[in-house]
Amino acid sequence: MTQVPKSAQDIIGFWLAGWRNNKVAKEIRQPFLDIACGDNILSEIVGGGFGIDVVNYGSVDVLVKNFEKLPFKESSFNSVTIVASLNYFDRPQKVILESARVLKPGGTLILTLLNPLIGMLWHVFRESWAKYPGFSYKQLQAFIRDADLIFTRRSHFMMGMNNLYIYTRL
Ligand SMILES: C[S@@+](CC[C@H](N)C(=O)[O-])C[C@H]1O[C@@H](n2cnc3c(N)ncnc32)[C@H](O)[C@@H]1O
Repeated sequence: MTQVPKSAQDIIGFWLAGWRNNKVAKEIRQPFLDIACGDNILSEIVGGGFGIDVVNYGSVDVLVKNFEKLPFKESSFNSVTIVASLNYFDRPQKVILESARVLKPGGTLILTLLNPLIGMLWHVFRESWAKYPGFSYKQLQAFIRDADLIFTRRSHFMMGMNNLYIYTRL
């Protein structure tokens, strides 16, 4: 990774982070792993989680170089979360494969992602280092093709601008 990014740490950033993480918190089963945890809000709200990131914003549990080789044994977690972050990664498919590896069978991968069109506009103004605008359902299906994951559920929130996706480990 060449650039070490920093999440937007302003009032809008904190408000949106609270909104999406509270939504995700209701879906989590412990123990869980929060990939690209930022301020590690999820571990605070839910408990029983590890927050990992490539930057320590102050409360990270494990600092890593990237998320393509996670420092955990296979079948370690009941949930893995990637909140508002998959579109920042250089190789999102690799991170999804690795998430599946550390999930227990029956465990859930929980993602939030802006609609790609909203993301395209959003990242003109904020966090322009995001690698992709977002991903469609179809693109996500291609990412999970080689992982032992099955699409389970999708719901919209933030007035339809954001999506929660849940995949289950086979
Ligand atoms: C918008 S923040 C989301 C943080 C947190 N999940 C939340 O909901 O508040 C995006 C996260 O992606 C991470 N990130 C940004 N660029 C990255 C990259 N190229 N590779 C890996 N992680 C990256 C940042 O460290 C940050 O924690």
